[in-house]
Amino acid sequence: MKYLSKNWRAFALCMLAALALTTGCQNKQAEQADQTAATDTTAAEENLTDNAVVRAIMARRSVRKYKADPVPKEMLDVILRCGINAPNAKNEQHWEVRVTESKTFIDGITKVFVESAKGDEQMQKMVEAPDFRNMFRNAPTVIFVAGKADEKSSPIDCGLLGENIMLAAQSMGLGTCCLGSAAGFMKSTPAAAEYLKQLAFSDGYELLYAIAIGYPDESPEAKPRDESKIRYIE
Ligand SMILES: Cc1cc2nc3c(=O)[nH]c(=O)nc-3n(C[C@H](O)[C@H](O)[C@H](O)COP(=O)(O)O)c2cc1C
Repeated sequence: MKYLSKNWRAFALCMLAALALTTGCQNKQAEQADQTAATDTTAAEENLTDNAVVRAIMARRSVRKYKADPVPKEMLDVILRCGINAPNAKNEQHWEVRVTESKTFIDGITKVFVESAKGDEQMQKMVEAPDFRNMFRNAPTVIFVAGKADEKSSPIDCGLLGENIMLAAQSMGLGTCCLGSAAGFMKSTPAAAEYLKQLAFSDGYELLYAIAIGYPDESPEAKPRDESKIRYIE
């Protein structure tokens, strides 16, 4: 009996040691597997994000300070063609785009803006900035986008067109800023009507927004995005 129990004790000890060894090995293997998976995920993510389009999307920020240097015409041509290659409902292209770098136009409408700023705290702050040159955040070039008022999908089409423009510009080292307020100002200020008319949009088209474009004179930080807005539905 004594002999048996001694053997059993030895057997039990051996089993425990073997179990501990196996568990230890399994834990180590699991740990290694976890680490490999993590490295693979990071590597896979890096592969997915290491391309020009994703880089342009993630690096684009609204630029509100520009150098005075003009945007080369060849760049503008490509950027605008990227704009009209955006997806749009039934390819009906319910958008119109006007581009200007005319100082007469930009300074003229800016003069109206400065005059209208009196009494408006936000506008006043903008025009009183020491480096204020124009109402389009000092951009040397402005793109105006109009949509067809009676076409439901037109604002979506125009939005997609604008993003193509902004990403193409980003990829060429240019900065942009979508300006809804500038369009609002031009539509609601009687003294600005003559400038709106100069844009010569077709009948039935309405100015939706402007895009300031030029060489950036600032590098804004990314604003936070709320990832909880994304939800996968099983
Ligand atoms: C429809 C629309 C209208 C906008 N209007 C203005 C504007 O009037 N003035 C301005 O400074 N920025 C304007 N923005 C830029 C937004 O403020 C900007 O995209 C947002 O704060 C996110 O920052 P990010 O572009 O740097 O990522 C507008 C953007 C959109 C899409």
